[in-house]
Amino acid sequence: MDVVKNKQNFSTSTSSIIKQLTNDNTDITYVPYSSELQLPGIMSLIENDLSEPYSIYTYRYFINNWPNLCFMAMDQGTCIGVIICKLDRHRDALRGYIAMLAVKKEYRKRKIGTTLVKIVINAMKLQNADEIVLETEYTNLGALSLYHNLGFIRDKRLYRYYLNGVDAFRLKLFCKGEIPIVEESQRVTGEKANG
Ligand SMILES: CC(C)(COP(=O)(O)OP(=O)(O)OC[C@H]1O[C@@H](n2cnc3c(N)ncnc32)[C@H](O)[C@@H]1OP(=O)(O)O)[C@@H](O)C(=O)NCCC(=O)NCCS
Repeated sequence: MDVVKNKQNFSTSTSSIIKQLTNDNTDITYVPYSSELQLPGIMSLIENDLSEPYSIYTYRYFINNWPNLCFMAMDQGTCIGVIICKLDRHRDALRGYIAMLAVKKEYRKRKIGTTLVKIVINAMKLQNADEIVLETEYTNLGALSLYHNLGFIRDKRLYRYYLNGVDAFRLKLFCKGEIPIVEESQRVTGEKANG
C-alpha cells in the first residue's frame, strides 16, 4: 500500500514540476516514458545525434529499470527530445546518472534540453539523490554550457573515453550540502553513455 502511495506521490510531484517548467507559449509537451512502443522514436532520435552506438539492450537496461527517469519532449505526437537516466547506489551516495540526452536538430536552442535536464534533476531529488553525474565529449561545448548553467561542475577528464578516441569530462551536480566523495571512472553496461 505504501509503495503504491509513494508512487502516486512521486508521479503527482513530477507532473506538477513538468507543468511549472513548461512554457505555456510552446507546443512542446513533456511526458514520462510509458510504453515500449515509444522506444523506436527514442532510438532513432538518439542514433542521429550521439556519437556512441548503443544496442537495444542498453536502452532497455535503463528504460526498463528506471522508466520514471526517462522523459520525452513531444511535438504533435513526435518525440523531438529525450533524456534517459538511472539512479542507484555508488559507494556511500545515491547517485543519479544521465545516460543520454538529445534534442532533434530543428528544435535546438529553445531550452528543450535544459527543461528535460531540470525535470530529471527534480525527479532524482524527489527520490533523495545525493549527486547526479554524466559524461560528455570534452569538445561538446553546447552540452558543457547547458550543464554548467544548471550548476554541474567538471569533476574529471577521462582520457580517450569514447570509441572515436575523444576525451570526456565527467560532470557532477551535488544535490545536497555535502562535499564530494572522490570516485574512480565508472562504466555503465560496457557501453559508454553520453548524457
Ligand atoms: C546538447 C543539446 C541536448 C542541447 O539541447 P538544446 O535544447 O538545444 O539546449 P538548450 O536550448 O536548453 O540550451 C541551453 C544552453 O546550452 C548552451 N547551448 C546549447 N546548444 C549550444 C550550442 N550549440 N553551442 C553553444 N552553447 C549551446 C547555451 O548556453 C544555451 O543557453 P542559451 O540558449 O541561453 O545560449 C542538443 O544540442 C543535442 O541534442 N546535441 C546532440 C546530442 C548531445 O550532444 N547530447 C548531449 C550529450 S552530453
